[in-house]
Amino acid sequence: MPRNIKTAIFAISYIIISVIILLINYHHLNRKENLMKQAQGDEKSNQKTGLGNKVTENIRLLPVASVETQPITTDNNSVLMSRDEKGWRRLNCGPSKLFRPISLSTDIGNLTFYGFLSAEYDRTVPERALKGRMFEKKEIESFLTLSRDLPLIDVGANVGLVALQAALQKRTVVAIEPIAANALRLCRSVLDFGHAGLVHVIQNAVSSREGHVTLATQAANTSTLFTVNEAGRQFTHDLTLAYAIKLDRILEMLPFRRAALKIDVESHEGHVLEGSRDLWKTLDVPLVWMEWQHVKGRATFGGQFVVDFMTARNFRPHHVISGKLLEGDFMSWPFTVLWRR
Ligand SMILES: *[C@@H]1O[C@H](CO)[C@@H](O)[C@H](O)[C@H]1NC(C)=O
Ligand SMILES: *[C@@H]1O[C@H](CO)[C@@H](O)[C@H](O)[C@H]1NC(C)=O
Ligand SMILES: *[C@@H]1O[C@H](CO)[C@@H](O)[C@H](O)[C@H]1NC(C)=O
Repeated sequence: MPRNIKTAIFAISYIIISVIILLINYHHLNRKENLMKQAQGDEKSNQKTGLGNKVTENIRLLPVASVETQPITTDNNSVLMSRDEKGWRRLNCGPSKLFRPISLSTDIGNLTFYGFLSAEYDRTVPERALKGRMFEKKEIESFLTLSRDLPLIDVGANVGLVALQAALQKRTVVAIEPIAANALRLCRSVLDFGHAGLVHVIQNAVSSREGHVTLATQAANTSTLFTVNEAGRQFTHDLTLAYAIKLDRILEMLPFRRAALKIDVESHEGHVLEGSRDLWKTLDVPLVWMEWQHVKGRATFGGQFVVDFMTARNFRPHHVISGKLLEGDFMSWPFTVLWRR
């Protein structure tokens, strides 16, 4: 081979090898920089534990088909998440020191959850618990016994009275709660009292349509909630904002395909059903706890809508404690109804 061709081949090989080495180095540098950025981000978000609720990461949505084997929420870092128009995000829990642990001894075990430092803001559930009484004790015990072999979807989880007891039964729970003060406490309870990996908290409202909603709470009654931006409803309560998702949304992340459902959303139960039409096709739900008292008399998505919706899916209403079939005028049914197939 002539000498100048040999030199040319040598030179070209040299250039190609140099470029490859450069590319490999560049890739490694980039990776390292990304890892460092990520680590710094994690550190920052760990330091920031205030109620500011820093968004730490976008969560990749899983195609429904693979959900069963790959739940997105399996580690302690993804206890609390929220969905908006852009996607799922992980949020940080509230700091323990803002709250105080309240313990109740129940049939299932030692139920411990966080109340505020002052019971003044915490009338319905925590204040009663401080006196050793459980809100809706008999109803909850009955529901937990009947549904004990099923994972639980808890819509309107509040501070986790039902969700945390289901976790004591070693059940997987998806707990949805729109009020930050409640969701952050529930998230903290999950981490501090040994339920990480079992209870996943979603900080969102649930409604017939998705979008930003205004919620009304009472300062002395964080468990009480009404949705304000519905025409014609007047309130004198404190206002807060939330992003409403349809219940169908959670099909994107559910780690199971069969579950008991609890819906306790202060008169909005019918709206939740309206936004759940796909859920019933995909998920096997044999048992539904539903607060009846506030929804039954509503004109839109009220008692009649709920009865028609549930009947069309072969459910019949039962008394949650006695188990008796409920008949007659639905306006006379009890505070809570248990729908069974
Ligand atoms: C219940 O659990 C809490 C938190 O783990 C603990 O502080 C408390 O002492 C327990 N109470 C009983 C009666 O075991
Ligand atoms: C999750 O947190 C609990 C309670 O703090 C702890 O016992 C458990 O080891 C943690 N699990 C993982 C996977 O980090
Ligand atoms: C809290 O809300 C519940 C449900 O609306 C109501 O029955 C109760 O009286 C309220 N308590 C206070 C202290 O406002």
